[in-house]
Amino acid sequence: MENSKSNKRPEEEEVEYQSGFGNHLASEAIPGALPKGQNSPLICPFGLYAEQISGTSFTSPRNLNLRSWLYRIKPSVTHEPFKRREASHEKLVSEFNNQSKASSTPTQLRWNPPHIPDEPTDFIDGLYTVCGAGSSFLRHGFAIHMYTANKSMTNCAFCNADGDFLIVPQQGRLWITTECGRLQVSPGEIAVLPQGFRFAVNLPDGPTRGYVAEVFGTHFQLPDLGPIGANGLAAPRDFLVPTAWFEESSYPGFTIVQKFGGELFTARQDFSPFNVVAWHGNYAPYKYDLSKFCPYNTVLIDHSDPSINTVLTAPTEKPGVALLDFVIFPPRWLVAEHTFRPPYYHRNCMSEFMGLIHGGYEAKADGFLPGGASLHNCMTPHGPDTKTYEATIARGDEAGPHKITDTMAFMFESCLIPRVCSWALESPLMDRDYYHCWIGLRSHFTGEGTDMKSLSIQNAHDTESGGESMVVNI
Ligand SMILES: [Fe+2]
Repeated sequence: MENSKSNKRPEEEEVEYQSGFGNHLASEAIPGALPKGQNSPLICPFGLYAEQISGTSFTSPRNLNLRSWLYRIKPSVTHEPFKRREASHEKLVSEFNNQSKASSTPTQLRWNPPHIPDEPTDFIDGLYTVCGAGSSFLRHGFAIHMYTANKSMTNCAFCNADGDFLIVPQQGRLWITTECGRLQVSPGEIAVLPQGFRFAVNLPDGPTRGYVAEVFGTHFQLPDLGPIGANGLAAPRDFLVPTAWFEESSYPGFTIVQKFGGELFTARQDFSPFNVVAWHGNYAPYKYDLSKFCPYNTVLIDHSDPSINTVLTAPTEKPGVALLDFVIFPPRWLVAEHTFRPPYYHRNCMSEFMGLIHGGYEAKADGFLPGGASLHNCMTPHGPDTKTYEATIARGDEAGPHKITDTMAFMFESCLIPRVCSWALESPLMDRDYYHCWIGLRSHFTGEGTDMKSLSIQNAHDTESGGESMVVNI
């Protein structure tokens, strides 16, 4: 029995969602399936089993506490013992302190988009780690993966015991069945699959690729808005959570594939794990459409720090220091006066991994392609390429308001320093000539009309407003 509202196949149906980030939600695929007044009655409605899934320790402070109650036909525990998966997966890493698979480099790195394989490959086998830091065992760290796949997962579900997945599809839709219900995710949207949820990825478009950020030991939150106020950036109501959906079919040999310490284990059972008839709580998968983001930016001078476009943040215990920020660079107006509008040249104590979902990126005229990636590690210099710098300077101050369109770049930024997996460092996709994009930056220094001991720079904005000049001693 399936609780479909029509005779359409599940992948053809319009999926319904609940909305709101971090809300305490409740959903019933059959009215009356949720127990009333308590979580774990002696007998649940319709003879369902009650099962809690905890995303935080029981005693986490209330504002951080995440858990849901699932009411299911059979409990998750009904399976044969876990065994190491026979077809081992060598390219998943969750322990970056062991340097056998990953090593550090301060060099600027850039990769061309990965080729989607021709041989049948599902989401699990097509997932591979690029870089990361820390340890899933110690519950502190992150991993950045990419995936290429062309085949839906069949008769199996994936479960990540190590951390939360934030999935950024770049090509091809992902129709994800989870224990809480279904998510249909298109490029331009993201999905978050929190630690421990079982899910299966179907590929309605066939060939598919994208990016995944995984965080260990914490969960994604909305960033504080500070002086921006109570509104702006990603609105809580635009985060969509599944409604309960279940299947009761018999599935002899159904396999749970569990990622545990970066290794894959399998356990067999004879039923689908997507057998949750009702659930309630605040720990659930969700998705978000990046086009709904309300960007804030400079409206007079200078280029804002990229943190202004943070969609989600996975915090550390230090205020303002992220284990992993997810930041986007969406279409927006550029209006700053007498300002170098592209991103500034930069060295950062944080490490920056970037990807491009579609279009171009304002700091790179060539070479940074949709589906590609770059990594600028801790304190590694980076910034606009030569073409972008020269074109910007040539336009001068006559540019006027300009709208950047057809673009959606993003950044995973972390306070931890990632090590890069050997297969990523040795990949033929690596752009060995990346550094050339900056080698052509020439000196524009003239020294004319300046006192070399004390260069007085009159900020034009200060001039207009009658402010004081700034003296820079060099
Ligand atoms: Fe940067």
